[in-house]
Amino acid sequence: MKNVVLLGPPGAGKGTVAARLVQEFGLTHVSTGDMLREEVAQATALGQLAHGYMARGELVPDEVILAMVRKRVDARKGILFDGFPRTLAQAQALSQFAPVDVVVFLEVDKDEVVRRLSSRRICENCGAVYNLVTQPPRNEGRCDLCGGKLIQREDDKPEVVARRFDVYLQDSAPLVTYYEESGVLRRVRADRSPEEVFAAVAEVLRR
Ligand code: AP5
Repeated sequence: MKNVVLLGPPGAGKGTVAARLVQEFGLTHVSTGDMLREEVAQATALGQLAHGYMARGELVPDEVILAMVRKRVDARKGILFDGFPRTLAQAQALSQFAPVDVVVFLEVDKDEVVRRLSSRRICENCGAVYNLVTQPPRNEGRCDLCGGKLIQREDDKPEVVARRFDVYLQDSAPLVTYYEESGVLRRVRADRSPEEVFAAVAEVLRR
């Protein structure tokens, strides 16, 4: 099985497509955003450190992220990295402990991600992702999967979304060139329906 990285701006749909890829390809989902939110919810030392960065839309320092990922990632194959790596230093460190076979770059513009994130809701219990416009829950305010309450993420406020996008352009966008030069980057247009995006990513992974 391949090690796969999902790369793309905030709101590109990484978490949405990851949920289906995990089901259909049996990959292990490693989302640093989800891990950090768990740490924050449990008020661990790591969570308390990370919370300020996340609430401002800034990156948590590389050494903190790398220690967290190394601790949780023991398998060497079949991992789906979502939201990691996000800096060149993280990418270089990752290449030492889990070689990357494919990087799927979800391409979408800023106006679309701002639209998506303003109407995103997540389940406070299981983390499932919804969108009030494009992927509404069956029962208003409740998760289809577990019945948990749907909430808006603290960092989905417009001013934080704008900061997250700027941080993405500065720190994470250079990874596109980095992985292109390594020959593992595959571009997928993500300004399409979730079904079309999933089908395009699945085709890349089957190649
Ligand atoms: P993280 O949770 O990783 O946030 P992100 O990368 O900004 O990505 P998002 O979760 O916002 O979006 P997504 O691409 O997963 O989109 P989704 O599928 O939800 O990180 C949060 C914070 O943690 C960071 O800001 C940073 O502080 C810290 N952090 C995390 N990792 C780090 C790292 N490696 N290093 C340092 N710091 C780190 O979809 C968005 C919405 O759009 C949803 O409502 C969804 O329903 C909808 N949608 C999805 N696909 C489609 C589609 N095709 N069409 C229409 N709507 C769609």
